Amino acid sequence: MLVTGNDILIPARAGKYGVAAFNTNNMEITQAIIHTAEKLRSPVIVQMSEGAIKYGGQDLANIVKDIASRASVPVALHLDHGSSYASALNAIRMGFTSVMIDASHHSFDENVAETKKVVEAAHAMGISVEAELGRLGGIEEHIVVDEKDAFLTDPQEAVTFVDATGVDYLAIAIGTSHGAYKGKGRPYIDQARIEEIGRLLAIPLVAHGSSGVPAEIVQRFRDSGGEIGDAAGIADEDLEKATQHGIAKVNVDTDLRLASTVGIREVLKASPKEFDPRKVFGPARDVMAQVIEHKLRVLGSVGKA
Ligand code: G3H
Ligand code: 13P
Ligand code: NA
Ligand code: ZN
Repeated sequence: MLVTGNDILIPARAGKYGVAAFNTNNMEITQAIIHTAEKLRSPVIVQMSEGAIKYGGQDLANIVKDIASRASVPVALHLDHGSSYASALNAIRMGFTSVMIDASHHSFDENVAETKKVVEAAHAMGISVEAELGRLGGIEEHIVVDEKDAFLTDPQEAVTFVDATGVDYLAIAIGTSHGAYKGKGRPYIDQARIEEIGRLLAIPLVAHGSSGVPAEIVQRFRDSGGEIGDAAGIADEDLEKATQHGIAKVNVDTDLRLASTVGIREVLKASPKEFDPRKVFGPARDVMAQVIEHKLRVLGSVGKA
């Protein structure tokens, strides 16, 4: 069933497990996400960025809503990194049940004002809202934040922000970054900061940049002709620990980008004569399903729906 973000995330925070929020850009990604969640009796969030809306538009939103509304587990359709009030309202008009307003690159006061505006409009329509405080390293919504200037979320500021805005769940900067290159070795994740913010705030917390960039998938990407440098993601144990202290929504895009491309590459490499799209995109869907299953198990949402 299609539900709001709060319907999924409030029980997750209370039950100390994480719900994966996977980005979608097409039918196969959406099917892999929702059908794997059904198989494992797990709630799940499907999210579309503004780029995904530009690419797939109402057609893609309708595919997500249709599969979600026929699904046997709770599914929310979420706007990822909405950049303005207009963008959030547009997503709500398109039928999204959860929206993110990401004004984290503005001043604290501007972030509060913009978030508050979205919360008021969304709540009037029963839609839940995510906002972000602090800055992730790497590339955030097409703005390059220098690693040195990236700043982590201040716990007291987070309390002030949530009180002032009435936002439903809060994305916090804890050391993760978007993409396949999260740093050498084991990327840093600030567990003590999560614990402190989790003690001060009862609402669900959100971790962006949470792809694991599995070594096995990276190897298969290389073996099938792909080129990738020192790829690194967030370790499974780190994510599992984060869900014990308040992280309830865990954003994953890069892992499915890699998995789908691996599936496509392997078919095209092994079968140069193949040109049936189902024989190309079908295996991509299967590789994504394996990665999704692993993530749902790590986060502890299996059997919760
Ligand atoms: O955080 C950004 C997500 O990975 C979505 O990326 O804007 O290229 O769709 P995108
Ligand atoms: P990854 O790049 O780690 O998959 O993060 C995705 C994300 O945070 C989407 O909002
Ligand atoms: Na989001
Ligand atoms: Zn993100």
